[in-house]
Amino acid sequence: MGTTTAVITGVHAWVPDYVLTNAELASMVDTSDEWITTRTGIKERRILKGEDQGTSVIGIEAVKGLLAKTATDPAEIDLLICATTTPDMLFPATGNIIANAVGAANAFSYDLQAGCSGFLFALTTAAQFIVAGHCRKVVVVGADKMSAIIDYQDRATCIIFGDGGGAVLLEPSEEDLGLRDALLRSDGSGEPYLHMKAGGSRRPPSLATIEAREHYVHQEGSTVFKFAVKNMAQVAYEIMDRNGLKAEDVAFLVPHQANKRIIDATAEKMGIGPEKVMLNIHKYGNTTSGTIPLCLHDYEKQLRQGDHLVLAAFGAGFTWGAVYLRWAYDVN
Ligand code: UT7
Repeated sequence: MGTTTAVITGVHAWVPDYVLTNAELASMVDTSDEWITTRTGIKERRILKGEDQGTSVIGIEAVKGLLAKTATDPAEIDLLICATTTPDMLFPATGNIIANAVGAANAFSYDLQAGCSGFLFALTTAAQFIVAGHCRKVVVVGADKMSAIIDYQDRATCIIFGDGGGAVLLEPSEEDLGLRDALLRSDGSGEPYLHMKAGGSRRPPSLATIEAREHYVHQEGSTVFKFAVKNMAQVAYEIMDRNGLKAEDVAFLVPHQANKRIIDATAEKMGIGPEKVMLNIHKYGNTTSGTIPLCLHDYEKQLRQGDHLVLAAFGAGFTWGAVYLRWAYDVN
């Protein structure tokens, strides 16, 4: 019997219907389609509208689709981890809400927060439960309703972010497939450059925090950009190098979609061409924990069993990382 690995056996994603275009943003703040397109690669993003609609709405739709697609009985799920930076509430965990709504009555569930690297951190964590033999079916959700914490008067941040997410099913395999390596990093000294000042225990909500617009994302874009380019590219390169992967071995880079220029720099450092880079930033913008499962979903039909994939992300914290996996199935 071979070594047990955790393999992705299905993926599904979901985005809300409302399309926020660059043209609409240009009517709200001093910006233009030309500026947004050339600086970020984004043309439009999705927004979850309506009262009492939280990140769980995205997660529930993604997981319901995943269970249907993989013909999985929700009662068989052992664990559900939800990577999110925009939970429905501070507590209970959005993962608990999703698990309950999809009927995963035998699963334990929790949230994991690692900014835009959340999905990779959650995927790596989930794989440990499988490899250790504690769980056989694990759902990993990456979902965010970024519009809940974006200041639509701040042109430097409102143009980037959108709402959406996806989910994957992880199961054990004895074949030479699945998660092979992970290189995860964090550096809390990044806090001043990307954070939400109020709403947590350090600065609970008050009239003063609301008037100061402290419940929105604060991002020093160019500083974050420099860290992201350097670190996402480095970690993607390093995971290839330490696994003896050459550019021609890699079927796809699956990058976090924050800015097309960061993605291009990562691909360049890896020595791979644009045809091997999953890209959907033009449609969805930066959905934080949602970007990587959204990419896997959009490109699922192009993936073949045995493909070598490098997943890479950078986000608030700072957090960053890369995962190397071999894809486990073909879609017929
Ligand atoms: O998701 C994980 C973490 N986040 C990221 O990875 C995001 C990283 N950062 C970025 O993607 C980029 O920094 C941004 C897209 C946020 C900004 O692009 P930039 O090329 O770094 O612009 P900048 O912040 O250096 O600003 C350049 C100029 C400034 O004007 P001045 O001072 O040169 O006159 C800004 O005021 O562009 C101006 N500007 C804009 N102009 C038109 C900033 N935002 C806009 C805008 N429209 N939306």
